[in-house]
Amino acid sequence: MRYLTSGESHGPQLTVIIEGVPANLEINVSDINEEMFKRQGGYGRGRRMQIEKDAVEIVSGVRNGYTLGSPITLIVTNDDFTHWKKIMGADPISEEDQDNMKRVITKPRPGHADLIGGMKYNHRDLRNVLERSSARETAARVAVGAVSKILLKQLDINFYSRVVEIGGIKDDTEYDLETIKANIDKNDVRVVNDEIAQEIRDKIDSAKKAGDTIGGVVQTIVEGLPVGIGSYVHYDRKLDGRIAQGVVSINAFKGVSFGEGFKAAEKPGSEIQDEILYDTTKGYYRGSNHLGGFEGGMSNGMPIVVNGVMKPIPTLYKPLNSVDINTKESFKASIERSDSCAVPAASVVVENVVAFEIAKALLEEFQSNHIDQLKSQIDERRLLNIEY
Ligand SMILES: Cc1cc2nc3c(=O)[nH]c(=O)nc-3n(C[C@H](O)[C@H](O)[C@H](O)COP(=O)(O)O)c2cc1C
Repeated sequence: MRYLTSGESHGPQLTVIIEGVPANLEINVSDINEEMFKRQGGYGRGRRMQIEKDAVEIVSGVRNGYTLGSPITLIVTNDDFTHWKKIMGADPISEEDQDNMKRVITKPRPGHADLIGGMKYNHRDLRNVLERSSARETAARVAVGAVSKILLKQLDINFYSRVVEIGGIKDDTEYDLETIKANIDKNDVRVVNDEIAQEIRDKIDSAKKAGDTIGGVVQTIVEGLPVGIGSYVHYDRKLDGRIAQGVVSINAFKGVSFGEGFKAAEKPGSEIQDEILYDTTKGYYRGSNHLGGFEGGMSNGMPIVVNGVMKPIPTLYKPLNSVDINTKESFKASIERSDSCAVPAASVVVENVVAFEIAKALLEEFQSNHIDQLKSQIDERRLLNIEY
């Protein structure tokens, strides 16, 4: 399974082509759109989210509600494009229009791709960089993840995500999975504890008032992944490594860990390895899940626990020093419009990025021309964990 995304932030649309999805999988576009809406929500987001109402249209690969096994194309129309036709359209623009619209951006924002992207691709108008480097692209990745999750749900593999920390305020109690499941999407900051939710809202409000932004930590949990997905035999087949790459490729994500993550640096080995137990109905299992479901780059049958760290959004109302690329003069970088905290939304992006990596690894592991073929092999693998 693989995909390509295209589209600029203020262009006509985002497009995704996904190849390798098994045939005969039931797909309902409303399930994809549910994920899309979730990505747009969350406390602390700016005006753009009120302008755009992301909705996916499926234009290939699905017929009468079922996948054909051919490439699936999804498009997300940017409603805002009507206002950007001249600036972002494919047609040449007259010099007069250019002047009228003050089209050229020469002031790079610290923390964004603007300056280095301009140098690298020889753009003197930094809009040519920021349009594609924008986190708008994550909408396309959520669409891919939503298709992945529909597939994985058929195999009894389910996803849960939450926010663990924003701006230093933590909801990092080690809740059991049932508590997390019961509290998913309960509030607009996506934390389990409602009192902490209010503290976080207050923190976001004060950051906004100060013209600043805040980041945080998000967590995705995957339940039901059979043992032995991924491999220890080669670096690029280790599933934890592939998930890490996926998460850090999301805009503003600067770190990833599994299970107890960086706490492993402080604890003795006896408190970090998970003891192996056996039960005649469930087979091999672990007495704990400190390692977050991975040993040797392979799933060990315990829930997969992925943590991702998001930096504070770089576009600030509080201006930072930067340099104009034409005049080389110093200026204070100001903003167009921006979120003050996108951590709740980003937790949805992480969940969907993890879903794609897991779907991809499963489809590499098992023959999967059609969904029933895949299902029967997954059943066999689950049996192996009992019979081995
Ligand atoms: C869901 C989401 C929303 C984001 N919204 C904004 C935003 O409104 N303003 C902003 O400056 N950066 C935003 N970012 C982060 C930037 O896209 C990102 O920091 C930038 O592209 C530079 O990439 P880097 O931080 O990975 O180096 C967002 C990121 C995500 C995941």
